[in-house]
Amino acid sequence: MLEVVAATTLPDGVVAVGIPVVGSAVGEEDDGTAGFEWLARLGGLRGATSDVAAARGLLTEEPDEAWLRRQGFTAAKGTSLVLRAASGPPSVVLLGVGPRAGLDPERWRLAGAALTRAAGDGGGAAALLVPEDPPGGDVPAVAAAIAEGATLGTYRFDAYRSVPRPEHVDRLVVVGRGDWSDGLRRGAVAASAAAFARDLVNTPAGDMTPRVLAERVRERLTGLDRTTLEVWDEDRIADERLGGLLAVARGSAEPPRLVRATYTPPESEGDRHVPHVVLVGKGITFDSGGLSLKPAEGMMAMKTDMSGAAVVLSVVSVCAELRVPVKVSAIAPLSENMPGGRAQKPGDVFRARNGASIEVLNTDAEGRLVLADALSLAAELSPDAIVDVATLTGAQVIALGKGVAAMLGNAPALLDALQAAGERAGERLWPLPLLDDYREHIDSEIADMKNIGRPREAGTIAGALLLARFVGKVPWAHLDIAGPARADESSGYLSKGATAFGVRALLDFLTRYQPARTAG
Ligand code: BES
Ligand code: MN
Ligand code: ZN
Repeated sequence: MLEVVAATTLPDGVVAVGIPVVGSAVGEEDDGTAGFEWLARLGGLRGATSDVAAARGLLTEEPDEAWLRRQGFTAAKGTSLVLRAASGPPSVVLLGVGPRAGLDPERWRLAGAALTRAAGDGGGAAALLVPEDPPGGDVPAVAAAIAEGATLGTYRFDAYRSVPRPEHVDRLVVVGRGDWSDGLRRGAVAASAAAFARDLVNTPAGDMTPRVLAERVRERLTGLDRTTLEVWDEDRIADERLGGLLAVARGSAEPPRLVRATYTPPESEGDRHVPHVVLVGKGITFDSGGLSLKPAEGMMAMKTDMSGAAVVLSVVSVCAELRVPVKVSAIAPLSENMPGGRAQKPGDVFRARNGASIEVLNTDAEGRLVLADALSLAAELSPDAIVDVATLTGAQVIALGKGVAAMLGNAPALLDALQAAGERAGERLWPLPLLDDYREHIDSEIADMKNIGRPREAGTIAGALLLARFVGKVPWAHLDIAGPARADESSGYLSKGATAFGVRALLDFLTRYQPARTAG
């Protein structure tokens, strides 16, 4: 993983120096001006080495605006222009952050990624010059954003390539005055959690069974401060009456697992009460649909169906390092959804952990079945809040696409806090209504409920309405990340494949968590 550090002078031997540039077209700024504004200058650096002199050579005649525009550079967010020194490295990379108005940490994330992507693929270090008082956020927030973007921009999953692709830079030095270190460290830690989740999700389902996933998580959590892990096997799952998880796992040759991880902060010493948040993640390591089999095309990316589990377990893995001030538990039910000879059949009824009966009319609506049990377990802990994360419905992708997740729940203050956290993290969440009026969509002919709603009607809401029956009165939010969990192409700080969407929003949310009183 990329190493990110702060420095006050430009070190020797960097391969590229990034300079953030604010840019706007006429009319975009309040005063109606247009043009570029360099947020740092090579000339302003102390201790110039021959390297810096070489780079400065490029900039003695600061490229004029017309020339930059002729090169196609607009300074729009996420854009970059590489100026190469005739006498060798380093290159100077101009990094667009867009207009000053509305500048936010997300644009710094994109700038971080643009730099590490533009710096070339020969390894080595890149430097980023930053202003003392950055627009778009305070230093810690901007620093964290830069570290996240730069780190995730270099993320690659090459475990299965015989010939690995050339390396990105392996080090980023952020050069500026002020206290950048702590923000950079926090951003790098959050990015490491996201990278771990991406690795779990990108690994082919044949190699990432419930047992393997539980083992990988054990390896990552072993030895972590104040963090504990429990893995339930199929016997324990049966003893605990997790009927939904058992029903889904029936069709598979691979046994299910249930993983439970907990972080307890030092603040909970003695009998002081610290808030407790339980995260629940859908962990279907492969979703074939079961007997309600998916078409071939619909199955191609279904190794992604354990993204919720990967996200919540990754979050717990960095709570100690980030000094999260609340107690955090993660519960992840893990299973394949396969059409084996003992598979559940459309029309079968099972009983979930909390005693409710569910008629399974479509075995492809399996996520809500395993979550019913996991949410019941979560509610039994009487936490201050439950947040579940799941690639639950194709309808979410239809409604909102891949750029924003759907969010539903029973506690407006909790939903607001999550939405704000998502906004800051660049992982956007959008509310859909948990409409009482639609409860009858999941009425069953013979059981307490059925596992599907009406055909082609409000599929994401119907899924959430089923989940709502398992959280009792605990404030609860459901994040349906079916679309955002996967990227179809590499851009910004996402690379094609798993995104780990939710990791950074949840970390931001937990870091600032204030308990809301009750469910609304
Ligand atoms: N894992 C899928 C949802 C999904 C679809 C995630 C596309 C990512 C991309 C889920 O288990 C599923 O199959 N849902 C069904 C539910 C339906 C049968 C009620 C769906 O959305 O079609
Ligand atoms: Mn399914
Ligand atoms: Zn699924």
